[in-house]
Amino acid sequence: MTQLSAARKPNDSSSNALYGGKGTRRITVRDITLAKERGEKWPMLTAYDAMTASVFDEAGIPVMLVGDSAGNCHLGYETTVPVTLDEMTMLSAAVVRGTSRALIVGDLPFGSYQEGPVQALRSATRLVKEAGVGAVKLEGGERSHRQIELLVESGIPVMAHIGLTPQSVNSMGYRVQGRGEEAAQQLLRDAKAVQDAGAFAVVLELVPAELAAEVTRVLHIPTVGIGAGAETDAQVLVWTDMLGLTGGKMPRFVKQYANLREVMGGAAKAFAEDVVGGTFPQEEHSVH
Ligand code: KIV
Repeated sequence: MTQLSAARKPNDSSSNALYGGKGTRRITVRDITLAKERGEKWPMLTAYDAMTASVFDEAGIPVMLVGDSAGNCHLGYETTVPVTLDEMTMLSAAVVRGTSRALIVGDLPFGSYQEGPVQALRSATRLVKEAGVGAVKLEGGERSHRQIELLVESGIPVMAHIGLTPQSVNSMGYRVQGRGEEAAQQLLRDAKAVQDAGAFAVVLELVPAELAAEVTRVLHIPTVGIGAGAETDAQVLVWTDMLGLTGGKMPRFVKQYANLREVMGGAAKAFAEDVVGGTFPQEEHSVH
């Protein structure tokens, strides 16, 4: 859908920065690796549909995650647990179609890789072949290293995800991870395990800022923080949280850059009142 992405205007036309650089080709994991070497910070947003993804692509967001947060933020589930591989494949394909520059990372949903490396490869292959994603993401540190190894050996780039892993909500809850010496050491072991297994980046979710900073210093792959302080290489937010579309109370780590819920609700009411009051459509909206 190049038409949707045609208007993207990079800020800095003289560099190959991930955000603001002049490049127009699809970003690859190699570009992400080079950004860490340059010490460059970068933004990542979730996306679940072609139209929204095209807006973020035009804005220059270099990496989009088709997260299984689609479960709560797009598909109406309570958690990410019910999301299926078929759903992730359909949503990921839409996001790929809506973008021309961003690296699209497709999330492997709960139950699609926990059985072992072969199941992970079968599932990831669907996201790569049917949806066209450039990389996949899966949750777990040491416990997922065999899956990561096989995917990477098979040519599928992997973004790992440690700290709070929402697919384990039933055993872990939504609590800060890595607090206390033992938990911090486990997080460091998890981070090193996914790096050693070949992951090109790792999401750190809801971990103390000082620990996330230490992981970022120790690793040579980029860290992508969400609720992990300011020192990670990249930051990710769920787009419906960031733009104020999600209802209810937001976690402390979310910064809302707009209030789409108010804007959309207000527009819907204005439309309804026009229809009920007979002021829409008017002559300019009519054909003869
Ligand atoms: O599914 C998702 O959106 C995620 C991000 C919160 C990192 O995993």
